[in-house]
Amino acid sequence: IEDLTGIGETVDFPVGVAIDSRETSGAASELLLRHFDQVTAENFMKPEAWYDADGDFVSANAEADALMDFAQEHDLGVYGHVLVWHGQTPARFFQDDAGAPLAADEAGRAVLRDRLRTHIFDVAEYLAGKYGPFGSETNPLRAFDVVNEVVSDGSEFADGLRRSEWYRILGEEFIDLSFAYADEAFNEVHAADGADRPIALFINDYNTEQGGKQERYRALVERLLERGAPVDGVGHQFHVSLAMPVSALEQAIVAFEDLPVTQAVTELDVTTGTPVTQAKLVDQGYYYRDAFRVFREHADSLYSVTVWGLTDGRSWRAGSGAPLLFDDQYRAKPAYFGAVDGE
Ligand code: XIL
Repeated sequence: IEDLTGIGETVDFPVGVAIDSRETSGAASELLLRHFDQVTAENFMKPEAWYDADGDFVSANAEADALMDFAQEHDLGVYGHVLVWHGQTPARFFQDDAGAPLAADEAGRAVLRDRLRTHIFDVAEYLAGKYGPFGSETNPLRAFDVVNEVVSDGSEFADGLRRSEWYRILGEEFIDLSFAYADEAFNEVHAADGADRPIALFINDYNTEQGGKQERYRALVERLLERGAPVDGVGHQFHVSLAMPVSALEQAIVAFEDLPVTQAVTELDVTTGTPVTQAKLVDQGYYYRDAFRVFREHADSLYSVTVWGLTDGRSWRAGSGAPLLFDDQYRAKPAYFGAVDGE
C-alpha cells in the first residue's frame, strides 16, 4: 500500500466505500483504512440478505456482522443499504401463502404493510441487539437508505413512480410507511437514551443527474416532506461514464439544496468504456478531480460521498471499464490523484 494522502483527509464530509467481507482483511483493508471513514454493504444488508431459504429472518447475517465488526473496531461509520427495494428482495414478500401474487385489495395491503413493518423492525432489532442501541458508542451505524429506486425511469406515470410490486399492492403509501417504520424502529425504539435521531434516513435513486428523472425525484421528495415523512436525506447514486458532464452532477445537488434535507453521493463510479486505455484513465482522473471539486464546493449540503467499490476488478461495472479509484494491485489510479487534487 503506497504512502498516499487519505482521500478522507482532503474533504469535510465522510468518504465511504461499498464493500463485503473480502475488504475487511489483508491488503484491501489496509488500503480502505488509509482512505475511507465510512463503509456500506455492497449487497449484504439488502432485503434478501436477511432471510434463509425457508423465508425466515436469519439468526445470523455473517456478512453484515463482518462489516459492523470491522467498522466498530476501526472507528468507521456505517451507511446502511437498503431496507426497501424492488431488487434483491425475496419474492415471498409479494405472494400469498399459496405462492400466488398478493392481491392489491384491503386484505393484501394489510398483509404487506405488516411484512414491511416486521422486516424493518427485525433489521433494526438485529443490529441494535448485536451492537447496542443506535447512537451509542458501540454501534457504528449512522444512516440507512430506507427506499431505493422508487422513481420511474420514464415520464409515463402522473406520479412519476416505478411500478414495482411494492407499488402495485400499496401504491405511493409504501414509501411513507417505510420512512415511518424506519424512524420508529431506528430512531425511537432502538435509540440510545438521549440520542436524537441517531440514524439519518435516506431516499436513494440513480440517474438523478438526468432531467426528467431528477424532476420526478424532487417532486416525490417534496410530497413526502409536505406529508411530514421523516426523510433526512436525498441520495444520488451517480453511476456515470466519462460522457456525463460533471456539471450535471452539480446540477443534481443544486436541485435539492433549497429543501430541508441533507444529501449524499451514495454509489459513485465512473466507467471509461472499453477498451480501457491509458488516455481514458487520464481523462477519468480529470473527471474525478472535477467531481470532487464540486463535492467540496457543496460540502455543506453533503452528508457523505461513497464510491461503489474499492478496486476496479471488484466493481459491478468492471465490464464497462475500470470505474474506481484503485486498480487490482491496490495501486492508486489517476482517478485517485484527481479526487485528492482539489484539496
Ligand atoms: C449492485 C451490486 O454492486 C452488485 O454486486 C449486485 O450484483 C447488484 O447490485 N444500485 C444499487 C445497488 O442501489 O444496490 C446496486 O448494487 C447497484 C445499483
